[in-house]
Amino acid sequence: MHMIGADGVLKPLTLGVALLAVPAVAQDKAFDLTVPSELVVTGFSKHLLPRFSLKTSIRINVTSGSGDAELGDTGTPVFRQGDTIWHLAKTDGSYTDAFEEWLLSDVGKRTIEAFAPDGEPMFSADVKTKPKVQKIAATGDVVLGEKISLHHCGRCHVVNETNRMNAIGSTPSFGLLRNFDDWRDRFEGFFVLKPHAAFTQVEGVTEPFAENLPSPIAPIEVTLDEIDAITAYVGSIAPADLGAPIQTQ
Ligand code: HEC
Repeated sequence: MHMIGADGVLKPLTLGVALLAVPAVAQDKAFDLTVPSELVVTGFSKHLLPRFSLKTSIRINVTSGSGDAELGDTGTPVFRQGDTIWHLAKTDGSYTDAFEEWLLSDVGKRTIEAFAPDGEPMFSADVKTKPKVQKIAATGDVVLGEKISLHHCGRCHVVNETNRMNAIGSTPSFGLLRNFDDWRDRFEGFFVLKPHAAFTQVEGVTEPFAENLPSPIAPIEVTLDEIDAITAYVGSIAPADLGAPIQTQ
């Protein structure tokens, strides 16, 4: 090693001796990886890790204690064993990063799937978890509920796109009401909440309108089953995106 001195003359760098010791340590590229025993017994790590080391010259010390990285159930999904998805959790660092990158690369995936002690691949690189099916099945209730909602509630509330133009703008839409944490309670008991009590009759639940206090508007007459259907329908619609939380009362 040389450096240019203040006099412009190239001089041997005396510090070089001390510095040379550093690369020797740095060349020992390695990190500790925690591998749970159920994975160790498969023999998979003996297949996988040396192939990574061969490519990258990064050695992996397998440990059962805590390491710089860990195969387990948290972190980045890296391979699948039957129904189990194995994840890689790691501290930041170029070696652990390189390992993650390699596992997710085409070469890494092929290496994962090449492990077939009994002729059949034991692991798969396909880690896409099946999308959680949040969709609420369109049961008869939901379909009926939409119909009843449009019929009874749609003259005031926007129930969905189909009655947007026929509803009363100042009345909260069903999508908006769906944002309340307790939307279900409100719908199940809507008939006692303002303003509905004055014009709503629930079969077998509410008292008939007093003769001297008839419903001021065309009354709503519903059964408890129909309210269940309405509630099922409301449960199936997406809360209107408000951009900000709405105030409860
Ligand atoms: C005549 C108009 C009208 C009809 C018909 C109507 N609503 Fe309403 N509803 C309103 C108004 C107005 C509000 C807002 C009340 C308020 O903000 O205090 C409301 C509010 C609600 C709320 C929220 C109540 C609360 O206090 O949180 C629910 C739930 C609701 N309506 C359900 C229904 C259902 C279900 C139907 C049909 C079966 C229906 N409404 C029919 C006018 C109506």
